[in-house]
Amino acid sequence: MKVVKTIQEAREIIAAWRKEGLSVGLVPTMGYLHEGHQSLIAKSVSQNDRTVVSVFVNPIQFGPNEDLEAYPRDLNRDMQLVEATGGDLIFNPEPSEMYPPHFTSFIDTTETTELLCGAVRPIHFRGVCTVVGKLFNIVRPDRAYFGQKDAQQLATIRRFVRDLNFGIEIVPCPIVREADGLAKSSRNTYLSPAERQAALILSKSLKLGKEAIENGEKDAKKVIEIIKANLATEPLARIDYVEVVDFENIQRVDTISGETLVAIAVYIGKTRLIDNFIIG
Ligand code: PAJ
Repeated sequence: MKVVKTIQEAREIIAAWRKEGLSVGLVPTMGYLHEGHQSLIAKSVSQNDRTVVSVFVNPIQFGPNEDLEAYPRDLNRDMQLVEATGGDLIFNPEPSEMYPPHFTSFIDTTETTELLCGAVRPIHFRGVCTVVGKLFNIVRPDRAYFGQKDAQQLATIRRFVRDLNFGIEIVPCPIVREADGLAKSSRNTYLSPAERQAALILSKSLKLGKEAIENGEKDAKKVIEIIKANLATEPLARIDYVEVVDFENIQRVDTISGETLVAIAVYIGKTRLIDNFIIG
């Protein structure tokens, strides 16, 4: 397993693999890897001859008052996890390598980024799509792996890959959770013990919503009410959004039919957590 910091080094290694006719999978991450990331890496290792993991805290997807500086970083730990999972290369550039002076070109998306996180984090998805597009052009993978944990991100990346003809297979991966149900996230490290306990309200509330749908509820408003009412029972929780949308276009639905995404964002203290389920 190798770690490289420059685009040129990454390209040279990958070009040598390509000369041998090897297939390449890419797992884009911001590091501080956990079992959620690990499941993506393991899937790539099982489906490709070589796996590249990018570890890059992408400054342009963070808003001015977000946690860019505080975002946890530990490359040594990440190296051990990638190595143990069978990854072949970590691409870990500095921001200046990815964004040289006069960097002024972006991938911008519309429909899938209007609601949910796109509505409350205005520049977020432009930053995500731009960095992922750059990583696709640097690595030119056959397949790239994304978690359903960030369902709107997954739907948006699928869309620009289709719209802009990237010709890369996007492989979705299920949400990995802690034993008690909390979705694994690098941001869970921000939680105090009391907040960590309170954070269980996300997965518990979603479970109630899911059960209602499974028991025949088709009215999106009712499902939203059930989830909001349960979130409101946790004093440390403050709702950012609770939405029911179609998973392809990320547009609101009144009646639940077809592949539907039920997504929530909730502040636990100062930490903003997201979680979701997809049904149908
Ligand atoms: P990051 O939050 O590090 O997540 C990297 C990948 O891991 C994403 O595809 C995310 O959905 C997936 N992931 C995170 N937690 C997961 C969990 N509990 N279960 C399954 N998958 C999980 O998402 C990003 O980084 C960035 O926006 C990025 C795409 C790298 C662009 O900067």
